[in-house]
Amino acid sequence: MLLLLGLMLLYSADCADLPCTAMPGLMKQLDAGNGELCGVTDNGNIFRWTNQNWVQLPGQMRHVTVGPAGLWAVTQDYNIYNMRDNNWVQVTGLLQQIDAGGDKFLVGTNFNDNVFCVNQDAIDSKATSLPWSSLDRTLRYYSCGPLGCWGVNSDNQTFYRYSVTPTNCLGSQWSQVDGSLVMVEAGTDGSVYGVDPEGNVYKREGICPKNPTGISWTQLDLCSRIKHVSYDAGYLYLVTQMGHVLKCALPESMAANLL
Ligand SMILES: *[C@@H]1O[C@H](CO)[C@@H](O)[C@H](O)[C@H]1NC(C)=O
Repeated sequence: MLLLLGLMLLYSADCADLPCTAMPGLMKQLDAGNGELCGVTDNGNIFRWTNQNWVQLPGQMRHVTVGPAGLWAVTQDYNIYNMRDNNWVQVTGLLQQIDAGGDKFLVGTNFNDNVFCVNQDAIDSKATSLPWSSLDRTLRYYSCGPLGCWGVNSDNQTFYRYSVTPTNCLGSQWSQVDGSLVMVEAGTDGSVYGVDPEGNVYKREGICPKNPTGISWTQLDLCSRIKHVSYDAGYLYLVTQMGHVLKCALPESMAANLL
């Protein structure tokens, strides 16, 4: 408890531009979406933030996502599970990273960096056999918001996918976006954040329906090096390279006003 308090003081004490507080726990990755927050630890334990506490869920996972398409996770063996009526239900496919963002999109990348998506009707049907479509580019990380999907490849190049809709998750074409990133996350409200190889965090500025790729990256002034970022409802959730979780309130001026 003392250690926890110490950490909270450390992180909330005028750390950088953003008012950040430390959350308990050590995570490898987390995802915030649709008002929910889930995370996985280095040894594969999975947690959901409930009543101001991390509550453990069954299973051993490598990656978790929560969003308009529900709660999904992939196991150490790349199997895909969806939480339905409080039980993990396995669906078809193998992924190493998964994202349930945007307008009920479900997308992900596999161990060969192939990219897959399913349309909204398949999510709604609650089938266990999912008709995954494959995209024509290899990416290490892929994430969708209401204004399209963003990804990074193994060379840390950043890409945006145009014209992704609930009935055409494949979209139409790629556009390479400036910036060298190791991960990129599109939030439920359309805002986009990325982490670069050095652990710096960036927000994509100027995103709007007419210019969904935005204009430029603005680096956030943070005190720690970051390995993972997620954004939902005015808060940025960061996992530091040490695994600590920070929750940062974005000032009004930085919150997205897209939709
Ligand atoms: C991409 O990022 C990784 C991990 O941070 C780094 O080791 C690698 O050198 C980067 N590659 C390029 C081409 O920048």
